[in-house]
Amino acid sequence: MRSSIKNILSGGITDQEYQIAGWVRSVRISKNVAFINLNDGSNLSGIQVVAEQELPEFDEICRISTGAALKVSGILVDSPAAGQQQELKALSIHIIGGSDESYPLQKKRHSFEYMRSIAHLRPRSNTFGSVFRLRSRLAQAIHSFFAERNFLYVHTPIITASDCEGAGELFRVTTLDADAPPMQDGRTDFSQDFFGQKTGLTVSGQLEGELFALAFSDIYTFGPTFRAENSNTARHASEFWMIEPEMAFADLNDDTELAEEFVRGLCRFALEECAEDMAFFDKQIENGLIERIRKVAEADFVRMDYNEAIERLQKSGASFSFPVEWGLDLQTEHERYITEQIVGGPTFILNYPKDIKAFYMRQNNDGRTVAAMDLLVPKVGEIIGGSQREERLDRLTARMDEMGIHQEPLWWYLDSRRWGSCPHAGFGLGFERLVMYLSGMDNIRDVIPFPRTPRHAEF
Ligand code: 4AD
Ligand code: MG
Repeated sequence: MRSSIKNILSGGITDQEYQIAGWVRSVRISKNVAFINLNDGSNLSGIQVVAEQELPEFDEICRISTGAALKVSGILVDSPAAGQQQELKALSIHIIGGSDESYPLQKKRHSFEYMRSIAHLRPRSNTFGSVFRLRSRLAQAIHSFFAERNFLYVHTPIITASDCEGAGELFRVTTLDADAPPMQDGRTDFSQDFFGQKTGLTVSGQLEGELFALAFSDIYTFGPTFRAENSNTARHASEFWMIEPEMAFADLNDDTELAEEFVRGLCRFALEECAEDMAFFDKQIENGLIERIRKVAEADFVRMDYNEAIERLQKSGASFSFPVEWGLDLQTEHERYITEQIVGGPTFILNYPKDIKAFYMRQNNDGRTVAAMDLLVPKVGEIIGGSQREERLDRLTARMDEMGIHQEPLWWYLDSRRWGSCPHAGFGLGFERLVMYLSGMDNIRDVIPFPRTPRHAEF
């Protein structure tokens, strides 16, 4: 039976025999002994395998290269080497899959740009091993967080006919012949398409999530979302994962409280449960990371009205590339200035002007703002976007009319305001932005296994 390296290093019994398998990270031959660092992805360090000359396969072992796949049986012994507690003294070694000098991940450190060009191999490196272990553990922690609070996990559809955010960033899904689509009155006739109408990949599971919240009270979605926005930034991907909780009988204040508890809980989780990988990030990616995350795990998040945010940005005397004016959206440079310079920690911005937000947000009594909230964090800027929803049918339809959004295709959404409507609120957390925030990685392309960005979908 194969043991994972992580398990034998954390709970293995000295002088007992274990079988492991993994990939060679390095080989060092010294006199009559070969030292192999073997990594199976279960932890960062891997384990040192010590092969002595008496092994029948010793000569073969001396010729193995970085990247080869090995199966090893050996005895777990206390290690005389510094920096490790235990090593595996080999009884037998099988080379399962060979490698050679052309293997791209040799000892030298490569740039992240280069690693993106070998995205099929980068999970076998230290940095990406840590990133994707953290990502996986966080996803599991997110499910636990909601399970502990009795939130229903709902799988909202990926193919949809509605553009939730109304930003026109839907990727089209069609089986029509791109070169010769059926035409009617000079336009493509989507009634002949697979679904009998125009469809696309979802930008958010929120609208369907709301329907479930109005039946199960507290729900969340956690799935892939797609946006055809042509913004080539380090924070935008065309395919990303989003966690969207939605709570019935809840207002904007309840929404920020859940978001705060959620983000703080995930910070604590990363520090406590992913310590080896977090220590690596702190040392190799961002000095002071652990201290930064620890502060957030303990801090109270600041709440600031959009009005106040604009005033403070204007008074700051800082020069920005984009204008700061009531009614304009905050750009990343503004968001980062608020959370990094003005507040120095996570900050909720509340009650944005209605004209820069989506149709479904609850209209405030002032007639010009909506009950929206964004959570801004240092380094990343916006990590969460959410709101209380407009639960009053007349106000919702009036707003849709104002914004030129057709009611007919959203009849099912409007029905939820006809029967048993109630105040409800939710938010979306961009999963990659969370992983960036917790790992210190600067580019969204480096925290998602196979990034999709404009002009990039090779692997
Ligand atoms: O602010 P957004 O657009 O909000 C929504 O989609 C709402 N329907 C959520 C809700 O209330 N249920 O997106 C939410 C979050 C952002 O704060 C950001 O973290 C992330 O999703 N995000 C992206 N992440 C990576 N690449 C992109 N192109 C992203 N666009 C948004
Ligand atoms: Mg947003």
